[in-house]
Amino acid sequence: MKTLKPTRLPPLLRHPPFSRPFHTTPPLPSHENPLGLPTKGLPPKFSRGLPSKRPIPSVSHIIAVSSAKGGVGKSTISANLALAFSRLGFTTGLLDTDLYGPSIPTLFNLTNLSPSLNPLTQQLIPLTNYGVKTMSIGYLSPEEDNPIIWRGPMLLKAIQQLLHAVQWGPEQLDVLVLDLPPGTGDIQLSITQQVELDGAVVVSTPHTLAIKDAVKGVNMFEKVGVPVLGIVQNMTTFCCPNCETKTEVFGGLEGVRKKLCEEKGIELLGDVPLHPNIGEDGSRGKPTVVTEPESERGKVFMGIARRLGEKIGLVKG
Ligand SMILES: Nc1ncnc2c1ncn2[C@@H]1O[C@H](COP(=O)(O)OP(=O)(O)OP(=O)(O)O)[C@@H](O)[C@H]1O
Ligand SMILES: [Mg+2]
Repeated sequence: MKTLKPTRLPPLLRHPPFSRPFHTTPPLPSHENPLGLPTKGLPPKFSRGLPSKRPIPSVSHIIAVSSAKGGVGKSTISANLALAFSRLGFTTGLLDTDLYGPSIPTLFNLTNLSPSLNPLTQQLIPLTNYGVKTMSIGYLSPEEDNPIIWRGPMLLKAIQQLLHAVQWGPEQLDVLVLDLPPGTGDIQLSITQQVELDGAVVVSTPHTLAIKDAVKGVNMFEKVGVPVLGIVQNMTTFCCPNCETKTEVFGGLEGVRKKLCEEKGIELLGDVPLHPNIGEDGSRGKPTVVTEPESERGKVFMGIARRLGEKIGLVKG
């Protein structure tokens, strides 16, 4: 009688192409694998020495939103920009690279959710809301209040994993917006060394100290050869809802125009007003471009996205 030999199933049948939640069987985080991604399959490759620039698969254009100063509105602007690109008809992603203070889960009303893993590639599948694909370390840490207390090497590996172990496809992203943490340090440098950015958007408020830090941020990008696409001035004019008087609460608007636009030759992409709705709508997970795209402030975000699209050559498919 003929005996049947056990046959090896083709890979697709061994690993059915459905995803599973990230938190089901994560390996313990380690120095080489801070996000605790599974190590079988096709893990991202980490070489010794300086990381080399690699394209992010399925992503056409990448814009980093940055400022050396904290709290000036980078995350609010990144979120509204990504939503504005999407509203203009571009396939858009948003990557939160702020490991210590991730804001994107809150801004996109995606807290307490965990992404899935593609079992074939072991890549993280982004979470989507309002038509924008998003990824954040905030999705990978089950307890929202637990701080990340990693030091340099762990942080840099985690950034490497976030940049290269997310499955943005199969549909090509027209544009990926990176929300950067404050500063001009390891993380910013590491990002500029690992991916080819189309350019950076620098955010500043009208405060004198914020402008000084914005100049430092611009100088950093110049040193590492990343084009600065423009400045967004945030928290500019406040319009009193009772008497409609306009006040420049945090200082005159000419500081940014002089120190950044004239002296450094950088374009002012837009002035975002100081408005309670911008903060409140963001905190409840429905940013301005979702809640009131036709308002004056909504139109400012749409205008910035339109101008950036022209500058990096975004074309509707
Ligand atoms: N134009 C605005 N009007 C009113 N509130 C704003 C405006 N822009 C941002 N905010 C609020 O200011 C606070 C800081 O904004 P945000 O978190 O976006 O700054 P950030 O630069 O990303 O901070 P960090 O450096 O901590 O990452 C938030 O509470 C946000 O809702
Ligand atoms: Mg932020």
